[in-house]
Formats: sequence, C-alpha cells, structure tokens
Amino acid sequence: MHCVQEVTSQIYWVGGNDRRLERFENMFPLPNGVAYNSYLITDEKTALMDTVDSAISARFLENITHGLNGRPLDYLVVNHVEPDHCANIEELVRRYPEVKIVGNKKTLQFITQFYQSPLQKNFFTVEEGDQINLGRHILQFFFAPMVHWPEVMFTYEQTEGILFSADAFGTFGALSGNLFSDQTDFEAFFLDEARRYYTNIVGKYGMQVQAALHKLNGVDIRMICPLHGPVWRSNLPYIFDKYDHWSKYLPEKSGVVLVYASMYGNTENVMNRLATKLSQRGVSDIRMHDVSKTHPSYIIADAWKYSHLVFGSPTYNMGLYYSMENLLREMAGLQLQNRKVALIGNFTWAPSVAVKAMRGLVEGMKNMEIIAPPFEINSAMKAEQEPVLDQLADAIGSSVKK
Ligand SMILES: Cc1cc2nc3c(=O)[nH]c(=O)nc-3n(C[C@H](O)[C@H](O)[C@H](O)COP(=O)(O)O)c2cc1C
Ligand SMILES: [Fe+2]
Ligand SMILES: [Fe+2]
Repeated sequence: MHCVQEVTSQIYWVGGNDRRLERFENMFPLPNGVAYNSYLITDEKTALMDTVDSAISARFLENITHGLNGRPLDYLVVNHVEPDHCANIEELVRRYPEVKIVGNKKTLQFITQFYQSPLQKNFFTVEEGDQINLGRHILQFFFAPMVHWPEVMFTYEQTEGILFSADAFGTFGALSGNLFSDQTDFEAFFLDEARRYYTNIVGKYGMQVQAALHKLNGVDIRMICPLHGPVWRSNLPYIFDKYDHWSKYLPEKSGVVLVYASMYGNTENVMNRLATKLSQRGVSDIRMHDVSKTHPSYIIADAWKYSHLVFGSPTYNMGLYYSMENLLREMAGLQLQNRKVALIGNFTWAPSVAVKAMRGLVEGMKNMEIIAPPFEINSAMKAEQEPVLDQLADAIGSSVKK
C-alpha cells in the first residue's frame, strides 16, 4: 500500500527507504539504510521531481498512482540521471505515454545511454533559467554541473521557495517517518552520515559546489528537498554553512584524527602513546582509526571534519601497508586539502620507505602541511625515543591550539 507524506499543500513526498542494501554504489556501507526521495506536485499540471532506485520501485509506483488519483503525469523532471534516481523512467513512460521528460541536453543524452526504450519523443529540453508553469507553482532550472554528475540540475519552485537540490544536501540514513530535518535529532543521527555522504560522493567537486552555492545567492530558498535524507524547512543556514565548509575544504573543528595500520601492534602502540600525550597536552575529542578495521568512508569524513591528521604505517613489500596506501589515494582523489599532517613509519629491514611513501601521497594533495619531522620506529618503539615522541606531541598539540 502507498506510503506518502505531504510536504506542502500540493506537494507530496512519494519516495521510499532501503534498509537492506549493504553498500551504496557497492562501496559505502549503509548501517542506517538510505532514502530515495521523489516529490510529486499536483497543481493544474502534475510534475514529478525525479524517480527512485529499482529496489523500491513497487512501492514508489503505488505512491505515484495514489498521489495522481487518476490524473495523468504531465512532467517528469530529471535533476540527476544516476540510476538510484532514474530506475523508473521507462515504467512511467509506459504508464503515462504523454509525459514530458524534462532535462538539459546532457540529461537526455545520458538517459538514452542507460535505457533501451525509445524515449526521445517524450524529451523536453530546457536551458539554464528556463521556467515551466504548473498553475500555482513555477519551476525554474539552475544547472549544477558536477554536483555529483555533469548533467545535474537544481529545480527551484518560485511560489513556495522550494529548492529541489538533487544529491546536494542529501545524506545516508533512511527516513523513519520524520520527513523534515527539524523533526529529527539531526546532529545526533544524521550529521555524521551527511558528512560521510558529501565527502565521499561529492567531495572532489568542492569548486563546483561553491559555484552552485554562488548561483543561488539572492534566491529566496525556504525549503530544500534533496534526493536522499530529510527535507529542510527550517534552520537552512545551518546546512548551507556545513556545505560551505565542506566544499571549501575547511575543517569544522580544530582537532586530531590518528589513522594507523599495524600487523603486530607496534605502530598501533605508538599511536596510542601519541594520543595519550596529546590528551595530556589538552587536545580533546581525539579520533583514532585502524585502516584495516574502519571503512575508508568514515575516516575520510573525519578527515574533512578535523584540522590535523596523523598517519602511521609499517613498510609492506617495500611500500606502504596496502589499506593505508588505498586510503591516502582515496583522499587525494577526493581532493582533500588544507590539513596539518604528521607521519609515523615503521620498518624491520628497509628504513624510511613507509614515511617516504606517505609523504609523497600527502604532498600530492593541495595545501597539506607536514608540521614535524616524521617519527620512525625500527620494529618497535624504544625508551630512548620517548623525547622525540614528546616533541612530536608538543608540535601537534601547540598547532591544534593555534
Ligand atoms: C607481508 C609483509 C611484508 C613486509 N615488507 C616489509 C618491507 O618491505 N620492508 C620492511 O622494512 N619491513 C617489511 N615488513 C615488516 C614490517 O613492516 C615490520 O615488521 C613492522 O615493524 C610491523 O609493524 P607493526 O608491529 O605495527 O605491524 C613486512 C611485513 C610483512 C608481514
Ligand atoms: Fe548521484
Ligand atoms: Fe543520489
């Protein structure tokens, strides 16, 4: 049976949740599931804003049937062609053969690449700034290229000031009945997942996110309807501010994330000793991750949040421990920048290999400052190295407090 919620008097949330999917994009763990949002506007003309993932098609189609209440669907606006939002286009065209599929040139090109049906006859191409009048509601299109994919658009509804923002302002985490962010304990339940979603999915495109945010300057936005997670109808400056920090690669918080690889526990031991020393120097809210245990998406989200990063790794087959290498490559790929870094290496027979490899990867990222000489142990830390580790803790501690 249908499961629909009212967003405003003529606009309905007709999306759904998937709590079974193990990994988003087959990569990112989803311990709290994910929501696929879609919004139906039932004005003089009817318009659907995006569809949903194939996993929840059956319920979604029931929602549409219920929401339209016997009326035809006039417009399907495709803000983003990724399959988690487009899986039902062909079925909608079978059900509503007259529907106009609204998108830009790229949108329509990508649709023909993904799907077999001849959908061209339904295409309705829009340019930046174009408007579609539905009666009381007027849709206006803002292109937001690379706010995940090149074809992405935001649709702004002028009468109620609603921004349909595609993946932007979205988050991992299924909806539990509470559709609006102000009905949830957003900071406790969603904020970490929103950051993990942003940094891992869109993190690389900070410049393009900034361009999209600038385009929206001066636009009267009273509500944000993203494609994943809760709808924003209050406290909008809060989420805009998060996006501003994230897309400028500015830390939200002064603090330290320690990330290590360790087979026999010796590198881990140094990290624990360093963390203790940092705590004694007044650093609070320290985060520590074992790269073999924690999925990189969580470590990357923490790296975006905090100002200082410490990486520790043993040498492995004359290189870096593989999951540390992977993590650093992912961070570089996502264009992480503007962080202060310290390095810890460990080896049994090949000195400096791990620290050199880490330094190379970190220096390949923009504006990363290595704030102290690397600390290296030969298999296990020795008592005579204590003063050197203290110096490292001093350097990190005073830099965090600056
Ligand atoms: C498969 C494998 C490959 C390794 N390759 C190297 C190497 O190329 N050079 C080196 O100095 N040590 C190498 N090591 C040794 C570790 O880097 C070294 O024992 C280190 O102290 C382990 O740190 P941990 O106690 O934190 O695990 C290797 C160890 C393993 C298991
Ligand atoms: Fe996407
Ligand atoms: Fe998406």
